Formats: sequence, C-alpha cells, structure tokens
Amino acid sequence: MPNPLWLERQADLTLTRLLPRLEAAFRREAKADPAAWETFTTRLGANFPHLFELLHHLYGSQYDFFYHLEQILATAARMGLARPAELKALDETRERDPLWFQSQQMVGGVCYVDLFAGDLNGIGQKIPYFKELGLTYLHLMPLFLSPEEENDGGYAVSSYREVNPALGTMDELAKLAGELRRNGISLVVDFVFNHTSNEHEWARCAQSGQPNYQDYYRMFDDRTVPDQYQQSLRDIFPDRGSGSFTYRPDLHKWVWTTFYTFQWDLNYANPVVFTRMLEEMLFLANVGVEILRLDAVAFIWKQMGTACENLPEAHMIIQAYNALARIAAPSLLFKSEAIVHPDEVIRYISPSECQLSYNPLLMALLWNSLATREVRMLAYSMRERFRIDPHCAWVNYVRVHDDIGWTFSDEDAARLGINGYDHRRFLNAFYSGRFPGSFARGLPFQENPRTGDARISGTLASLAGLEKALQEGDQTEIELAVRRILLLHSVILSIGGIPLIYLGDEVGTLNDYSYRSDPAKAKDSRWVHRPFADWEGRLARRHDPNTVEGRIYGELRRLIELRQQHAALANGEMEVIPTNNDHVFGYVRRYQGQRLLVLANFTEQEQTIAANEIRLHGLSYAFTDLVSGRTVTVAEDLRLEPYQFVWLVS
Ligand code: GLC
Ligand code: GLC
Repeated sequence: MPNPLWLERQADLTLTRLLPRLEAAFRREAKADPAAWETFTTRLGANFPHLFELLHHLYGSQYDFFYHLEQILATAARMGLARPAELKALDETRERDPLWFQSQQMVGGVCYVDLFAGDLNGIGQKIPYFKELGLTYLHLMPLFLSPEEENDGGYAVSSYREVNPALGTMDELAKLAGELRRNGISLVVDFVFNHTSNEHEWARCAQSGQPNYQDYYRMFDDRTVPDQYQQSLRDIFPDRGSGSFTYRPDLHKWVWTTFYTFQWDLNYANPVVFTRMLEEMLFLANVGVEILRLDAVAFIWKQMGTACENLPEAHMIIQAYNALARIAAPSLLFKSEAIVHPDEVIRYISPSECQLSYNPLLMALLWNSLATREVRMLAYSMRERFRIDPHCAWVNYVRVHDDIGWTFSDEDAARLGINGYDHRRFLNAFYSGRFPGSFARGLPFQENPRTGDARISGTLASLAGLEKALQEGDQTEIELAVRRILLLHSVILSIGGIPLIYLGDEVGTLNDYSYRSDPAKAKDSRWVHRPFADWEGRLARRHDPNTVEGRIYGELRRLIELRQQHAALANGEMEVIPTNNDHVFGYVRRYQGQRLLVLANFTEQEQTIAANEIRLHGLSYAFTDLVSGRTVTVAEDLRLEPYQFVWLVS
C-alpha cells in the first residue's frame, strides 16, 4: 500500500495536470453552460482524492494508468454534462437532503415488468395502484435486451441501452421514470454489472476473435488455470454442472461464468471494462433511474486461491463507481445485493459504497422463526448485526424473486447451541414440506449433493401455509397462514429501514407450477414464485374483506398507513429487548424522544408478556397498540393471540 501522503500529493498533481486537458476537451460545453461546468469541477475536486486512491490501487500498475484515468474522468464529465435538467435539479435537492431515503414514507415494491403489467406502458397505468398501496420506491427487474430463450429472468443483459422490445423502449423508460417521480415514486433498476449475456456486443466481438474484447471477460485456453481457480470456488448454480467455467467451442476457450453458462463474468482487472461499465451506469442514471440495485456484487473481482467472493477490490470498484456518481449524478444511490455471510453483507454498506443493502439475514431468520416457533436466533442476530452506518439503510424484505438462502452465521447459531449445517437441513426439509407437520409448500433450489446445501423457492403465501390450508379447506389453518403473512410484513414495516414488498405477496399469491412445462424454465424452481399478476382474480378481490386476498391486502395497507404516520417506525435507533419468552420477538424504536415498542408472537399459541416488563423499556403505565387500537395498563398482562404483533406507544 503506498503511503497516504504520497497518494494525496499524487492526486493533487494529477488533477492539476488533468483538469486543463478536460477543460480543453469540453470547452464548447463549458462555454454553453458555465454553471454546470463549475458544478462538475467542484464535485470532481471534492471526490477526486478518494477516487484517485481507489483507481490507483486497482489500476495504478498499468503502464497507461493516466490514460485510463483521463478516460474515466472524461466519461464522467460527458455524462454529467448531458444529464437532463430535471435530474440536475433532483441532484441538488438530494444533496441538500441526503438522508431522504430514511423517511417513514419509504415503502418499496418490486416486480417483473412483463409479469406484473405486460410492458412499460402497463406499468405506467398501474401508478394509481402503486399509490394506493403506498409505494415510494419501485424496483423493476431487468427490462433490458436479453437472449430470447434462456436469460435468467433478464439477468443476462445484452445491452444496457436497449429495453427488451417486448417491454418498450428506452424513451418510454425515461418517460416512466419521470412520471413515477412526479408521483413520489423513485425508480429502481438493476445494474447487472458482474456479467453480460453472451449476446452482448462485447461478447460477440470476443466470439469473432478480437483479443481486446476477449479481455473484457475472463477467458482461458485450457483447463489449467480454471482448475486452479475452481479448487477454492463455491458453486452458485450447482444444478448446471461444470463448476464456474464454460467451454466455448467457437472460441476454443473456457469462459468464466459464475451463474448460468450464458452469463459471462466481466473482467474488472481491465480498466477498459471499468470505464465502459461506468458509461453504462451513468447512462441509466441519466434515464432517470434513482437507485441502482447492484447485482451480485460479491463476485466482481477474482483472485487465485480465494473463493473469489467479497474481495477487497470488489469494494474498491463499487466505491470508485460511487465517487463517480457523486461527481456526475449525485442523486444516484446504490443498493447492494450481497446474499452472503452477514459479516460480508455489512462490508458493502457505507455512504461511500452502497447506501442501501438488502437484509438477507433478517429475511432468512424470519422464516427460521416461523419454522421453529422460536425467536432466539432472530433476536440474537438482530441485536448484534442490525446496526449499520446511520447514513445508510437496510432494505428489509420477506420474499423476492430469488430463492431463500440460509445465510445466517454458523457462529451465531453455535452460541445458541444450534448446529448450522443440521439446522439448514431441517429448514430445507421444513420449507419443502418434507418435514412432518410442516405447513409450507416450497421447492428445493440448487440442491448440491456434494455439500448437502440447498435453498428454497416458493411464494410467501405458499411457504406460510396458505396453499396447503386452502387445498385442505381448513379454515383454522387459512386464518393462521394469513396471520403469518401479516406477521412477517409487520416486522419489515416496523424494524427500521426500507420495507420492500415482492408484488403479488400483498394479495397472497400462491405458487405457480406451470413453469415446469416451459423447457427454458423447468430446471430453475425460482419460477414457481414468479407468476403473472392476476388482475382479474386475486387482485380484483383485494377490496373484499371477505376474501383471503382482501384480508391480507386490507391489513397490509393499514400497516403501511400506520408506518407512514409514525417517524419512529423508520428513523432512529432499534434495540432488541429481552421478552423473557422464546416465542416473542421484541424491540424498541427510538426517534427524537418518541418510543415505540414492538412485540411479535411467532407461534400459533397465545403468549403472555408481563406488562411491567414493557414499562421497563421507557413506556408509561398505560400504552396503546397502534395496530389494534387497544389500550393496556401495567395492571394487566399483555396477551398476544396466535401470531399477533403489537406496536405500542404510550
Ligand atoms: C442476482 C439475481 C438473480 C440472478 C443472479 C445472476 O443474484 O437476483 O436472480 O440469477 O444475480 O445475475
Ligand atoms: C447466490 C448469490 C446471489 C444470487 C443467488 C441467486 O445466493 O450470492 O447473488 O442472488 O445466488 O440464486
């Protein structure tokens, strides 16, 4: 590591040398809009020292480092200056209020464009629905050009600048972004930057034999090097076989493909890749995307002898992109998708890396508590691991389009006397319905016979027991399943951070097994929880409280409204409290003198909490449950019905 003082001086000298060159290159633009140029150079000056340090570490040993640096800055300048006026205004608003995303108003939703509304126009027509639900954040899953047949649900991108023609056009996307924004909804889109599809122009050029494009990816002439790497790699999609490399007979080469064989990992050791992907990233920002979901962040850097996950350079790349966003599109935020060990998840979260992050640990442990009817691991892990940088926020979710991976820490489990390996086997058996008495109807995903590992697919409702209960026509079980669905949502709505709803879950969507007859999907059980939105049926019944859909939707909407009225449900501090009851999860939220206490019963039995204990957490002698409207005094004990949760204020 070079000496920090030396680096600082180098940064200074470099900027002094590069600025006039940039000024010359952008003379026309600077003359046309001197204020914009000044804003650009101010932001550049503020962010350059850190950016230089990162890029120097990543690419400083290249003989043409300064050439690449200049290309990177020129890209930032060009894209920053080309930013539409409305977005420049947004940049300024957000610079004045950088923590806007921590507001209790924030509620997220995520969906596939085609499955939810047909196409981008359809999504535009659903804005009233998003508002009815209370959404302020909408994640549209990959909507870019991608291979016709297999494309991993769009996560194999063939062009970051073209919308999949079946869904619409880039102009329509830009229009939609603006329309959403004017309705108080931020557009979130994936930046699938670990890999491109094998049909991306760069991949095609590589296939046609151009060595400079082959350098965009990780390619090997024979198995020697891949075999060396493979020894320390984890199989992400073991079902597909052949480890992390794919042989391409057209190229006579092995290509690094962490995920599916048609998803080629980009080579970020090549500064050209960094620069070109920067341009794609800023292009999306200029279309009006406010938050980029950084897909598969863990895998973007490789080093022999390591698992090639979560390497320090992966963090540097994201931080460098973050610094460049501060320069060219400052309102842009990053959300990290790191579905890895909780110690690693947390390392992506900081104002200079990803301001937002999925919270896979909370998600997995909510499901764990439903299965075991115990909250010990949930309480322990949230006590130890929920706190993050106060300038950031968790994105808390119950389900998304992916499988559920049991990414809790084995060390945490061991402290509670639980063997992680055995426990994961139990969870997989429970949620695939193989465990006696299980209410869940899920499917295994990527069972790995070598390691005994597996993950779980299935919709929230099917995993929570609704599918089984409906099939058996068991009213009691239907009621319990509805309560489980609401219970899990109640936690993500009240624990702090941004709650994210996988659209369809708000009306209890069940598994859809029809993917099995589509050869492009049959082998990937995640499709079981990716059905078409049923606007004529399930969603049409959402306002009828006599239906299951209406019960879930009505209650969920009410919870969302409550959340949006109480700042303490999102901002400030969360502290897990001992409830002296292994079945009841409890936490206090504090914000500017307000206090709110949450208790959640994770069993189908009634549970009792001594009211006096509640008072110990700073509430007075009588408190009101925001959810039921009931008032309880310390004279009585607090009884929680099966799966009941309370949000207490005094
Ligand atoms: C992300 C996506 C997942 C996809 C993978 C490869 O994890 O969420 O659906 O399979 O990346 O892009
Ligand atoms: C792995 C990856 C994650 C991806 C998932 C898809 O868990 O870590 O990025 O979403 O696989 O199944």
